Amino acid sequence: MGQLIVCGQKPLFGDVNINGAKNAAVAIIPAAVCAGGLCRIENLPHIEDVVCLVEAMEHIGADVRFIDDHTLELDTSAVAEHRALHDSLKKIRASYYLAGALLGRFKKAEVHLPGGCNFGSRPIDLHVKGFEMLGAEVSIEHGVIKASADRLTGARIYLDTASVGATINIMLAAVYAEGETIIENAAKEPHVVDTAGFLNTMGANIKGAGTDVIRVRGVQRMRGAEYTIIPDQIEAGTYMIAGAITGGRVTVRNIIPKHMESLVAKLKEMRCAIDEGDDFITVSRGEPLIGANIKTTTYPGFPTDLQPQTTALLSIAEGDSILTEDVWENRFQYIDEIRKFGADITVKGRVAVIRGRQDLTGAQVAATDLRAGVAMVIAGLAAKGETVIDEVKYIDRGYENIEQKLAALGADIRRLD
Ligand code: UD1
Repeated sequence: MGQLIVCGQKPLFGDVNINGAKNAAVAIIPAAVCAGGLCRIENLPHIEDVVCLVEAMEHIGADVRFIDDHTLELDTSAVAEHRALHDSLKKIRASYYLAGALLGRFKKAEVHLPGGCNFGSRPIDLHVKGFEMLGAEVSIEHGVIKASADRLTGARIYLDTASVGATINIMLAAVYAEGETIIENAAKEPHVVDTAGFLNTMGANIKGAGTDVIRVRGVQRMRGAEYTIIPDQIEAGTYMIAGAITGGRVTVRNIIPKHMESLVAKLKEMRCAIDEGDDFITVSRGEPLIGANIKTTTYPGFPTDLQPQTTALLSIAEGDSILTEDVWENRFQYIDEIRKFGADITVKGRVAVIRGRQDLTGAQVAATDLRAGVAMVIAGLAAKGETVIDEVKYIDRGYENIEQKLAALGADIRRLD
């Protein structure tokens, strides 16, 4: 299914343009269903998850046209079907956003349950709770979520966990609900704010996105809109870490530096030099890295989606580091793979203890999921000799042209199909 071959220990130098955010794109495409009109979405990343979703949108009757690799016109006025059961939806996590969007617009939805990255149990009980509190009956049968309501009415919904997916899904389902929906303990991630921004541009009335209380006042009508997706915080972080691990100097461009604060703080702690402008960050490292203690959490804390890449980085830092995964219960499944480089890591539950060493060596490894896969690339960039990474399809789900971008920075990397 495709391999990446990396010959490591070449410092990366140069600029890399960051694409639109995957996790915003996979919410904004289904959100267009709410408009029932023509939307133009710009700065879409050209990645597998987007391709899958676009296929599913066509399948439910949307008229879809790529203007170029990063611009999509999407007319959802002809969507009349509340069933989204296309096979492509089984492959991606974000398929569940179609449930919220279809329920919001048609008061009923049938959608394949999500696939996507497998790092332990990924419940959707909070999405279901939210739909039910808006007045829907919800069941899950044979891998399909079914929701329907005679009418949807606003409600006060407290999320036990600040779930990104549940926050966005409830916003989608509530845009046309009668009265006001209040989501408490809402997720504050940039892609929640971006999705709310898109919905508002289409005529929704959502306030408070980016805080932990979001208010959605139901509207009667929405319309098509033009929207530009925010830059990908995780892609940017991945290239910043790649620059740091190789001891080079990498500038990530077209980004929102505010979104990178937690990573910047930790890179500085590890002795990287950071230069920041309005829409770029430069990471450079002259001296050896030192270890750090890091805990993943919700935004604006350290993102779990940078945890595997950070493990690779800490593997070559001087001293011991402690990395605590506080979002997903089982996101260290890739550790056996990264140990093949010689990394010295012990995992107990949600805590990894990483004893840094300078001498990682190239290995034959597999991408076990999207971010773990890219962590193998990062470890390979630092390791002596050749690394072969299998199952590149996982990396392609979220990174556009990864080998071209890294090669342009000076990496020795190529793809074998
Ligand atoms: C999104 C991101 C994913 C990222 C994650 C956390 C997308 C498409 N994916 O996933 O890359 O790792 O945010 O930043 O945006 N939970 C429940 N019940 C639910 C939903 C979630 O208990 O109904 C728990 C999960 O088990 C997890 C935590 O909440 O422990 C966070 O999950 P959530 O924020 O929902 O992640 P996703 O939206 O699936």
